Amino acid sequence: MDKIVLAYSGGLDTSVAIKWIKENYKMDVIALTINVGGMEQKNLDAIKQKALDVGAVAAYMVDARQAFVDEYVWPALKANAIYESYPLATALARPLIAKLLAETAIKDGATAVAHGSTGKGNDQVRFEVGVMALAPELKIYAPAREWGMSREQSIEYAKANGIPVPVTVASPYSVDENLWGRSCECGVLEDPWAEPPEGAYDWTVSPESAPDKPEYIEVEFEKGIPIALNGEKLDGITLIESMNKLAGAHGVGRLDNVESRLVGIKSREIYEAPAGVVLILAHQALEALTLSRYQLGYKAKVALEYADLTYNGLWFSAHRRDLAAYIDSTQRHVSGTVRIKLYKGTATIVGRKSPYSLYSYDLATYDEQDQFDHSNAEGFIRIWGLAVKTQTQVQGQAED
Ligand code: ARG
Repeated sequence: MDKIVLAYSGGLDTSVAIKWIKENYKMDVIALTINVGGMEQKNLDAIKQKALDVGAVAAYMVDARQAFVDEYVWPALKANAIYESYPLATALARPLIAKLLAETAIKDGATAVAHGSTGKGNDQVRFEVGVMALAPELKIYAPAREWGMSREQSIEYAKANGIPVPVTVASPYSVDENLWGRSCECGVLEDPWAEPPEGAYDWTVSPESAPDKPEYIEVEFEKGIPIALNGEKLDGITLIESMNKLAGAHGVGRLDNVESRLVGIKSREIYEAPAGVVLILAHQALEALTLSRYQLGYKAKVALEYADLTYNGLWFSAHRRDLAAYIDSTQRHVSGTVRIKLYKGTATIVGRKSPYSLYSYDLATYDEQDQFDHSNAEGFIRIWGLAVKTQTQVQGQAED
């Protein structure tokens, strides 16, 4: 029998998929579970066992958190990649999962890969375009797009086939989590006029119930990458996890968005990305201090394009790679420390410093220490305004 590698989360759909693929495609299923953070350690072994119990011929568990941070999250942070206010957590993990699917298939001699996404979302695109870019010879299957079962029917199918139905199917939401953020959709959230119930959130407290006292934190960056929190050097995984807790405890990082999916649907999404929101803000503050006006302006345009490519599943495109090279180059002096105040749902930059700071007190000050030669301004403005002045003189008034 041909082998197929399935991206396995341990949830209802991918468990049903193991059985369904065996029955309908007559293939041996290899379950691949990828830890990109946001998963509880105690669940990991249980997930692997569940895959085998349901009928997978092999089950692998890969801790991909380090690669996720180094190769996906940090590049996105350096870019300040945000798509329609969303810091791209799920969108960043999908290409990595696609890569591990392809690698596992090649290593184990499988001819195909599969994922549990349905036909309405972005994730199917990201998985499949990722695999197409990396291993075009592999066949790709999306059983949940094919089987035409409703949620209730999947539950029936699971019960009929001895697949344990997790209690979490009682949750009205569809949730995806990784180190960089949590997304929550469906249920009451499908009414964009309805305020999200507290139960839709998990990583953050409400600003109302956040502490009445602000907390100050300091993040140190080296070449655009955060390396220390409150003076303590931390590895990327620990730093992001700590930041999620710290900022989440102040209600920071909640987002309530309506977003434009690639497939043409507007969807309402709740995000929690405490670390993502604070680190992007801090990173931008450090860039404001260390990059020139032209670098900042051009980079902001690149950020939009970079986020768009990421959101739309083109992570492994040559274009995304080329933009990443430019972004890396911009980060060579983005080192320094940023001070942030967390308070009742807000993160405010209150201080920044860098050995490469372009801020000059002597030039900026209005005090006696002022070194700026005011007389230079006069000639500068004459030259700067020369073109508009000439145009008005030749062509008439600048305003109707
Ligand atoms: N809307 C987000 C995105 O497209 C999150 C998707 C989350 N996926 C999920 N199966 N709940 O990246």
